[in-house]
Amino acid sequence: MSDEDWSAGAAWMKGEIMPVGRAALPVTDWGLTHSDITYDVVHVWDGRFFRLDDYLDRFEESLRKLRLIVPQRRDDMRQILHAIVARSGLQRSYVSFVASRGQPSVPGSRDPRLCENHFYAWCVPFVWVFPEDVIERGAHLLVPDHIHRIGTSSVDPTAKNYHWGDFTQALLEAKETGFDSTLLLDAQGCVTEGPGFNVFMIKNGRAKTPRTGVLEGITRKVTMEICEHHGVPVERSNIQFEEFLDADEVFVTTTGGGPVSVTKINDRVFSNGAGGEITTLLNQTYWQWHNDSTMSEAVDYAREAPGVAV
Ligand SMILES: Cc1ncc(COP(=O)(O)O)c(C=O)c1O
Repeated sequence: MSDEDWSAGAAWMKGEIMPVGRAALPVTDWGLTHSDITYDVVHVWDGRFFRLDDYLDRFEESLRKLRLIVPQRRDDMRQILHAIVARSGLQRSYVSFVASRGQPSVPGSRDPRLCENHFYAWCVPFVWVFPEDVIERGAHLLVPDHIHRIGTSSVDPTAKNYHWGDFTQALLEAKETGFDSTLLLDAQGCVTEGPGFNVFMIKNGRAKTPRTGVLEGITRKVTMEICEHHGVPVERSNIQFEEFLDADEVFVTTTGGGPVSVTKINDRVFSNGAGGEITTLLNQTYWQWHNDSTMSEAVDYAREAPGVAV
């Protein structure tokens, strides 16, 4: 990828739109040195942002929870996101927007109040959290017994964050033992989430997803609406791993792919190794809802001339 390749994506930083390969942070930025950063990810599908207001709501909540203050208001952010996607020309895109603590005005200071918080955004071609062949056969997840999701009083999972230490160690084990990804339990043995996704179980036609200890995923929210639309009872409640393993169907939800079937967890096989019936229905409806113009907004690709600043 060349640094000037717009088809690889675009970024907005300090008032300038640039090819994504040129976007960079100072090495002293606390976003890098302390993971002191929040972000959100929305997707553009066939030239339209899906449920952008839900993502902006969650991002504003994350800013509030982490006490990050950036100069951009909600409308500025919306405009920036539209502008980078338009400039990239990408019709299907993974669009990330970020607020970092920045760096202190007094070099070396440990006082977060001295940091100038800043906003930036970037978009790249759509990212599938699971490759399409894995979506086809259903994901295989490893639940390790010795790595737990970091406690919620240490890192609030509802403020979307870059604290991936637990996930990365578990992912390494998962990949080395033939699994596609991982799902972590909390210290009490309840199911939480995985790197990039929430989880659901279906038992006797009823859906359940963990209530606490997880990011409030937008795909999880949309999937709960879809459950209601199809008359599938759905509840948020904490789920012990034994109960989860007893499910008829299991699936994950992510902006990077929608509801995706899980056909194996450790050595337990679900839905006879094929996608479950309810999961398939939820997945189909999720993508159909992308054609509903009340849930999406169009990118104006003609508007964005090269080099226009926002
Ligand atoms: C830890 C975690 N949980 C859940 C999700 C799913 O959230 P969403 O549906 O908003 O993509 C993500 C998405 O990146 C995530 O990182």
